[in-house]
Amino acid sequence: MAKETRWARRPYDGHAINQPLEPDYELLQVGPGTPGGEFFRRFWQPVAMTDQLGEKPVAIRILGEDLVIFRDLSGRVGLLHKHCTHRRASLEFGRIEQNGIRCCYHGWHFDIDGTILETPGEPEDSEIRHTICQGAYPTHEFKGLVFAYMGPPEKQPAFPHYDSMDLPDHDLVPYSIHSPCNWLQESENSMDPFHSVFLHGRVNGPQFPGLEHFVALPVVAYHTRPEGIVYSHSRRRDDLILIRFHDHFLPSLAQNGGMFQVLSEPKTFSRTSLTKWVVPVDDNNSRKFGWRHFNDKDEVLRQGNRDEVGWEAVDFYGQTAHRSYEEMQNNPGDWEAWTGQGPMNIHRREYLGVTDEGVALLRDKLRQGIRAVANGEDIAVPQGTPKKPFHTYGGDTVLRIPKDNQDDRAMIDRVQRAVADIYFAGDAYEGEDRTEFIRRGVAEKFGSAT
Ligand code: FES
Ligand SMILES: [Fe+2]
Repeated sequence: MAKETRWARRPYDGHAINQPLEPDYELLQVGPGTPGGEFFRRFWQPVAMTDQLGEKPVAIRILGEDLVIFRDLSGRVGLLHKHCTHRRASLEFGRIEQNGIRCCYHGWHFDIDGTILETPGEPEDSEIRHTICQGAYPTHEFKGLVFAYMGPPEKQPAFPHYDSMDLPDHDLVPYSIHSPCNWLQESENSMDPFHSVFLHGRVNGPQFPGLEHFVALPVVAYHTRPEGIVYSHSRRRDDLILIRFHDHFLPSLAQNGGMFQVLSEPKTFSRTSLTKWVVPVDDNNSRKFGWRHFNDKDEVLRQGNRDEVGWEAVDFYGQTAHRSYEEMQNNPGDWEAWTGQGPMNIHRREYLGVTDEGVALLRDKLRQGIRAVANGEDIAVPQGTPKKPFHTYGGDTVLRIPKDNQDDRAMIDRVQRAVADIYFAGDAYEGEDRTEFIRRGVAEKFGSAT
């Protein structure tokens, strides 16, 4: 086989790299039976907005599987394989019943767990309904999103409750946005704090009010956790150090700092304004499901607009397909960046630099998990209950610390790592006790500066 040519190494030599290279299928494929797909199926993740569930069943596609989702007349949510187990008519044309759904073709009636309740054309004593089931997955409805677990039943974890699901005074507004590309491209955008400098700053001008300081290159510290990666990216503005924490929990949950904040005075452990999962539709399409957090404490600018949050919409720039091509070219946003990489990015064609450490870390972490599942090993999945939720860290801390004229970036790095240590030590506590521990710890460490 000819040696693979990954990059052009001379001017005017596009010809050297005009042959396609294979994508990294181990990481990128999500269909049934693929290593990445089986990994994804070990986690609960959102598959629909409850607003989608009306009088008719809805055909959806998740992880390369065609499914139908509906709310039966008892109010329960069913998530079934789309094709009827009898002769594969689509249940999107079925009739919703008190319990479950009835296929339009020969009237077989399925409960939400896939149990066959009736096979009306078959003899009374037919054993069919005691022998087989329609394919089905368990669901959990929470604050406007429907989550599902699509893995083997014997591996099903309890639905994980994250601390960000009920932060005091936070009102969660659900939303969902499609991207015509592999899921990892959007997730990598969140693991790349350097793109903000250029995409949201130097190249296109500031895109997010209150975040104009994004034009400065951040000082970044990454922390690997059993369930994912937490990082902080920090910048100086006058005598303030702005430390923004970001979460990525596997497979694809991301939380950033505040969207619309006043960052002109010290604050400690303000919380995220965005909780989002990038869910694979199939190898070349993904759908983000998440919540915008509205609150008066962490978004004091009050520029957010809940009326602009929902199906195919969120209230900050550049996140959807729904702008003119001219506007996309004039002022490209995140959506153009990750979808523009193509339906499935070719990693071997990339040339990663030092600013891509987060992307590389995420790929490594995913690969470890994918291989562990493929080898029959158990993996760390987020676990939490309303009383003892899974702890997350996304949000902002702002400290008043004068510039170090010797090496300010090294000092900023020491500060953000010390703050992270205090955040993580706070894991021994819950709720207000945790917040209090972190605030006190930061105040003690940095004295009256905070
Ligand atoms: S195909 Fe569904 S009942 Fe026959
Ligand atoms: Fe961005």
